[in-house]
Amino acid sequence: GLRRAQNVHWQPVDIDKTAQARLKGQKPCILWFTGLSGAGKSTIANLVEQDLYARGRHTALLDGDNVRHGLNKDLGFTDADRVENIRRVAEVGKLMVEAGLIVMVSFISPFRAERQMARERVEPGEFIEIFVDTPLEIAEARDVKGLYKKARRGELAHFTGIDSPYEPPEAPDIRVNTSIMTAREAADSIIRYLIDHAII
Ligand code: PPS
Repeated sequence: GLRRAQNVHWQPVDIDKTAQARLKGQKPCILWFTGLSGAGKSTIANLVEQDLYARGRHTALLDGDNVRHGLNKDLGFTDADRVENIRRVAEVGKLMVEAGLIVMVSFISPFRAERQMARERVEPGEFIEIFVDTPLEIAEARDVKGLYKKARRGELAHFTGIDSPYEPPEAPDIRVNTSIMTAREAADSIIRYLIDHAII
């Protein structure tokens, strides 16, 4: 087949990630939140970002619902579209790490292979997988956006956990169970991890 990037060459940059990180006084990395719809990914990612901001850290937040309104508005929820969604987000996350940021990525990201691909796009230790682990029954009972109800009624096809798969992480770097802890407690445990691992 045609290799589209055939005559495109890698251009090294002078002000690299290490220089950016030195200026900003932090170790750039991706905090990758994965979990079912309604598990609490966005809520926790936002709390973590507020804490990092209060500590004077430079952050960015990529959230599925938002990115799907812009960069990824051409994508739906078939397996192929989710794969492409995550591929683009992994690339954007990598660019942001190169700019020296602590990047929060909050997407269902249901497939192990794509999360692994995202991990491999950055250097060892720069990808922190956070499993926002909430049983389907609890996410469905919350149903903040009413999407589970629609999916059960058959009005929404390919809904994660109903008729589209979710592959839980086998060895996440951090696991927070939001059925037994509050979003605040989850965020605190993530900040603790970042301190213990000398990221902040
Ligand atoms: S994915 O699987 O990573 O590509 O999904 P993501 O980009 O995170 O988008 C998930 C949000 O889209 C809304 N939504 C759906 N989710 C799952 N399945 C289907 N079919 C679907 N349709 C719309 C939903 O609000 C998700 O938001 P969160 O914040 O996860 O609840």
